[in-house]
Amino acid sequence: MGRYTIRTMTQSDAEAVARLARLFEPISTTVFRGITAADVCSWVRDRLNRPGWDGFVAVAEDGEVIGFTLCKDLGKEESEFIFPEARETIQLLYLAVDEAFRGQGIASALIQACEDMARESGRTGILLDVTESNPAISLYRRLGFERLGAQVFMRKKLE
Ligand SMILES: CC(C)(COP(=O)(O)OP(=O)(O)OC[C@H]1O[C@@H](n2cnc3c(N)ncnc32)[C@H](O)[C@@H]1OP(=O)(O)O)[C@@H](O)C(=O)NCCC(=O)NCCS
Repeated sequence: MGRYTIRTMTQSDAEAVARLARLFEPISTTVFRGITAADVCSWVRDRLNRPGWDGFVAVAEDGEVIGFTLCKDLGKEESEFIFPEARETIQLLYLAVDEAFRGQGIASALIQACEDMARESGRTGILLDVTESNPAISLYRRLGFERLGAQVFMRKKLE
């Protein structure tokens, strides 16, 4: 097993993050299909410039970015969530680890980095959403996440 480090994501990581975003393709529901690496790259760059957005990357010994996650502070960023604890919550968006490096605790370490940051900024919870069939649910459960409910995305195609 190789060694890796976790550090804060910077603008210069956007292209590597966009490459890793291909890992979401097999687990994506219909609405999230068809997103290109260029879309992801500009989205990441834009979000990292906004207050309340942070990211973490896992870096292999050779400097390659092998995993990432993004966190949005719902207490800082304007958010559509209005549940009582929303302003004390960090939303974890996207988490992926290169296939060759899975099962070594990298995703757990990325979530831990997000959790540490959340605690330091006085936040009391982390929110995430995941497709029902995703095996990542067992990882989230192991790390202490509890299921809140089931959300179904629906879309009407307008002729
Ligand atoms: C989910 C994911 C980030 C886990 O990364 P990881 O670094 O292997 O995770 P860790 O080593 O910290 O933990 C391994 C856990 O992930 C789970 N897991 C989920 N998908 C897995 C996969 N394809 N390969 C190995 N483990 C996987 C294992 O069940 C394991 O849980 P356990 O320890 O309770 O048995 C990674 O599999 C991935 O990138 N998947 C595709 C993208 C994705 O589904 N992201 C989550 C979207 S909400």
